[in-house]
Formats: sequence, C-alpha cells, structure tokens
Amino acid sequence: MLQKKIIESCLLLVLSMASGAAIAATPGASMLANTCAGCHGTNGVSSGPAAPTIAGFSNDYFIGVMQQFKNAEIPSTIMTRIAKGYTDEEIKLMAKHFSEMEFKRKPQQFDAKKAAFGKRLHNKYCEKCHENGGRKSEDDAGILAGQWAPYLNNAMNDYTSGDREMHKKMKKKVDALQKDHGDAGLDALINFYASQK
Ligand code: HEC
Ligand code: HEC
Repeated sequence: MLQKKIIESCLLLVLSMASGAAIAATPGASMLANTCAGCHGTNGVSSGPAAPTIAGFSNDYFIGVMQQFKNAEIPSTIMTRIAKGYTDEEIKLMAKHFSEMEFKRKPQQFDAKKAAFGKRLHNKYCEKCHENGGRKSEDDAGILAGQWAPYLNNAMNDYTSGDREMHKKMKKKVDALQKDHGDAGLDALINFYASQK
C-alpha cells in the first residue's frame, strides 16, 4: 500500500532525526515536536488522511494515548515504535506543547445525507462522552469532529474488532448502535465527523 510505504519512509527519516536529538542535553518541547511534523503536520494539524491531527487534545488524553502506544495497548502501524523512543518526561513536554495548539479542521469530502443521519446517531449514542458534537477537548475522550475520516475509520475498526479495548460504557453504546443500524450507522457517524468545520 502506497500510504503505508510513505509512512514507513517517513519513519526512517524520523528515527534518524530522533537519534540525533538524543545527543543534545535536554531537547525542548518544540524540538521534540519537530519529529512529529512529518506526519502530523506543522503545529499538529495533519494534512491527512491516515495520520490524525493531534493539536488541541487535553494533556491527559495525549499522555494516556502515548503511554498506551508505548505499552502496545493500541494497535498501531507506527506509533508504538515512535512512542518507545521517548521518556515519560518528554511525553509530558509534548503533551503540553500540542495541547496549547489549535485543532484546525481541514475540508474533507462527505455525503451530506449520511452526515445528517450521523448527527442524529451521534446525539443518541455518543454525545454523552464526546460532547459538543465531538468537539470538546477538555475531557479524556479525544476529538472526533473534523478528525480525518480514514483515521477514524481505522480507529473504529480497531475497537469493533476487539483489537483496541473500549471504555466499558462506550462499548455498550457501540454495540447498541451496531445492533440497531449495522455498519451503515458507523459510516454515517464518520461522515458526520468529516462534515464538521
Ligand atoms: C511516520 C509517521 C508518524 C510520525 C513521525 C508520528 N506519528 Fe503519531 N501517528 C501516526 C499514525 C499513522 C497514527 C495512527 C496510529 C498508527 O497507525 O500508528 C498516529 C497516531 C498518533 C496519536 C493518536 C491520536 C489520537 O487521535 O488518538 C498521537 C497522540 C500521536 N500520533 C502523537 C505523535 C507524536 C507526539 C509524534 C512525534 C514524537 C508522532 N506522533 C510522530 C503517524 C506518525
Ligand atoms: C461512556 C463514554 C463514551 C461513549 C458513550 C462513547 N465514547 Fe468514544 N471514547 C470514550 C473515551 C473515554 C475515549 C478515549 C480513548 C479510549 O478510552 O479508548 C473514546 C475514544 C473514541 C475514539 C478514538 C478517538 C481517537 O482519536 O483515536 C473514537 C473514534 C470514538 N471514541 C467513537 C465513539 C463513537 C462513534 C461513539 C458513539 C457510538 C462513542 N465513541 C461513544 C468514551 C466514550
């Protein structure tokens, strides 16, 4: 897959940069973050589609996810290898750095009918924890509104296949959604998130 190839060649570059950085005494947050820019964009706003935007998450969510990558608790193409290269202190520095950046939404293609249906489904099954249409960033559930659709699609597949453990109450809702609406329900939700500007 071309996309995977690009990500992998990008990784090689990054790993060579990271080992160079390790020689410096204590790299500052923005120097650490430079390593992420190749895939996650300048200031954490990815130009997509498989690498998510990582700007504007809460500190806690960012640290939690990086630790889970480090421990291989979230399936990943690349991030486990990357996260293992950073100390807890460095991860904290990066979390603070990216949480202060703005999550900017880039235009994405979506189906307007599906997005409208997805909005209703979101309000029924997801809004309780992914507040404000999935925009709220101050909690520990990440940001869904305007996140890249291919990334969200992968993330949902990881959850529903059981490769990534779901928050217990989220699982209840996702199971109900799938029972009531099948894959079309998930597809509509992803179109809704892609539609948000
Ligand atoms: C070679 C490309 C690449 C580089 C470099 C990279 N990432 Fe990632 N990142 C990804 C991909 C792809 C994913 C989706 C998970 C996966 O497949 O590994 C991801 C996922 C993430 C997530 C999870 C986002 C979410 O919504 O939960 C965070 C946080 C993250 N990366 C942080 C970083 C940080 C911090 C750096 C720099 C130290 C970095 N990444 C460097 C490609 C990259
Ligand atoms: C009871 C609270 C709760 C409900 C309800 C819930 N979620 Fe979540 N969700 C979470 C939490 C907490 C996380 C943070 C990561 C984790 O725990 O896996 C999360 C993470 C996610 C992620 C990963 C984000 C990323 O950047 O990788 C997606 C996608 C997601 N939820 C979609 C949904 C959808 C779609 C629904 C409705 C069908 C839903 N969630 C309902 C709590 C919830």
